[in-house]
Amino acid sequence: MANQDDDDDDDDIDINPFTMLLLTDQPEPKPDNDDSSKPHSSIEDHSPNQQQQHYLRSIDSTVLIRQLRSQGLSFQLWPAATSLFSLLDNHRSHPSSSPLTSSLSSPRRLRILELGSGTGLVGITAALTLSADVTLTDLPHVLPNLDFNAQANREVLTRHGGSVDVAALSWGDVDQMEALIGREYDLVLGSDVVYHDHLYDPLLRTLGFFLLGRTVFVMAHLRRWKKEAVFFKRAKKMFDVEVIHRDGPCDGSRVGVVVYCFSPKDKSHHWDDNVGLLS
Ligand SMILES: C[S@@+](CC[C@H](N)C(=O)[O-])C[C@H]1O[C@@H](n2cnc3c(N)ncnc32)[C@H](O)[C@@H]1O
Repeated sequence: MANQDDDDDDDDIDINPFTMLLLTDQPEPKPDNDDSSKPHSSIEDHSPNQQQQHYLRSIDSTVLIRQLRSQGLSFQLWPAATSLFSLLDNHRSHPSSSPLTSSLSSPRRLRILELGSGTGLVGITAALTLSADVTLTDLPHVLPNLDFNAQANREVLTRHGGSVDVAALSWGDVDQMEALIGREYDLVLGSDVVYHDHLYDPLLRTLGFFLLGRTVFVMAHLRRWKKEAVFFKRAKKMFDVEVIHRDGPCDGSRVGVVVYCFSPKDKSHHWDDNVGLLS
């Protein structure tokens, strides 16, 4: 298991996030303010090849994902999502050598929450490869496309015994989390969710809400800015943070996607669906 910790290393150069978005043949993305101001009716997108097939060798099945690149950053696949996609596929084929195994052990059917799902590739893949119940979440204006992708994969999900639902979750909104999402998750997933510094604290508050007892956060991350060290310093005050996997450098970069596991420092707090928070 990889565990060298380099998040505080300030030697890395900053990398323009827009040059590191993903894969090939992309137009320059429009900046996305990550607010909910975009009307749902703006969801139409006429760019070619917006729906892609992602083949999962472990279950000989395909995940269909629609990207709406002209709609902004929330509607595109980011590099860390494809890393988690591959890790989940490999985990299904070779669990004994998978870096995910210790995070995925549960005596019951896994209940998974994905934060900042974007297109939903990671959460849908988790539902398929782990036969798990997954809640995909994002800001309200992202949900129509997330719903579209959930629907596009209904048949394959049913075949493999997985389920997904879709819900709005704005990080840091504890009332919304308590009222709509609940706490009954075994695992929280995220890919490329650390990027704007004004989102660091809301994301950490969200993790503080969900990470109780044995619930962990598995996060795939491609480092772009030195300032991200601030997020990891704050995270390490709240959680045990371990590197569980590193990919090789992405094309044209010195860095690759790193996968972390965040776990509560005090594992004695846990949530009981009937009683509430127990310690
Ligand atoms: C860089 S994208 C990554 C999307 C996807 N996880 C992936 O890897 O392809 C970050 C995601 O976080 C979501 N996001 C940003 N701010 C958020 C907030 N305050 N609350 C919830 N989600 C947020 C965005 O809408 C976007 O889908």
